[in-house]
Amino acid sequence: MSVNIVEAFEKKFGKKAAFVAKAPGRLEILGNHTDYNQGFVLSAAVSQATEFVIAPAEGRKCRIWDFRGNCGAEFDLDNISKPTPKDWSNYIKGVIVELAKRGIKIGAFDAGILSTVPLSAGMSSSAALEVAASFAFSKLFNINLAKEDWARVGQGVENNYMGLKSGLLDQFSSIFGKENSLILCDFRDVKVLKTVPVPEGYCFVVGNSMVKHNLVESDYNLRRASCEKAVEGIKKKYPEVKALRDVSQTMLDSCKDLMDKVDYLRACHVVGEDERVMKAEKALEHGDIQEFGKLLFESHASSISNFENSCVELDCLVELAKTIPGCLGARLSGGGFGGITIHLVKEAVAESYCTKLKTAYKTQTGKSIETIICSIGDGASVKEVK
Ligand code: GLA
Repeated sequence: MSVNIVEAFEKKFGKKAAFVAKAPGRLEILGNHTDYNQGFVLSAAVSQATEFVIAPAEGRKCRIWDFRGNCGAEFDLDNISKPTPKDWSNYIKGVIVELAKRGIKIGAFDAGILSTVPLSAGMSSSAALEVAASFAFSKLFNINLAKEDWARVGQGVENNYMGLKSGLLDQFSSIFGKENSLILCDFRDVKVLKTVPVPEGYCFVVGNSMVKHNLVESDYNLRRASCEKAVEGIKKKYPEVKALRDVSQTMLDSCKDLMDKVDYLRACHVVGEDERVMKAEKALEHGDIQEFGKLLFESHASSISNFENSCVELDCLVELAKTIPGCLGARLSGGGFGGITIHLVKEAVAESYCTKLKTAYKTQTGKSIETIICSIGDGASVKEVK
């Protein structure tokens, strides 16, 4: 059922909507846990998105209705300094708190949200909500921030309000995505280096393991700490190194004794991922799709053995991918510890690929998964409601 969010909002709140923003979820195509190491990622915005419709309100009370979950949230602008447990409106309150830190104050509002981004799956439903709210606020309250800074606001929500020490990938991809393209992001300079067309005749299929990954409660922050400790070790020999982005495998190996064994493995993953992203970009430039697919499988293997952010369900999906014709590569995508795998699949067989993957997974595990044939869309936008 498709819901017109503006009509739904106006009916629910009995007032006219002012602006409607839309921010997509994202797929991390290659470059796992490289963003907070100032490295490279190939990512894409998907057509699954969160819409956020907004109108001004009197006083200090804000009301938000979620048309997917059919539930509402309310808060007072003067009482949002701390998140409330298990409350999706934290991602919106967090944006307001982050703006306040930058000296930007907003007024009360009523809002409606409607999302098609799967929740807690690894497609960045929270970033989509942060960015959609941000873009709606930018119009309603006349806030002028560079797009990169809006991404930082969303990251600030995760880092400071929610306690997840994530990088910029999710918000950045939701903002800068390009239709039918992958974006090659550089997280040292925080910019898109290049847009790379999705190879003709291929598409990305998501295999959602349905294992909910709550990154705040997972080992995500520990992984980040490991990467930082590895850098401390490397600096003893190479003082010029600022982040794992500056490190080659040879340099890392020469510093193995200067760090904890586990931290070394974590660093191997990140250094390998940066290298794989660069190789993938070249492969795509030369139309070498086989090589691109191989790099996806290699990334997953490194998640298993070096970064230990996979799980049996994700491993099963990637193993099955190797046996089903039409798939060139697959890997876990996003933080890991559950969530989704992405599969590079020939477009012509994508439907039957999904059926085969679901059936084979059910036979092996007795459990069900969801698949999505993704279309790659543009980044976030906002428009006035006329
Ligand atoms: C999550 C984080 C991102 C990034 C990925 C892993 O999606 O929010 O910042 O670190 O994991 O690449």
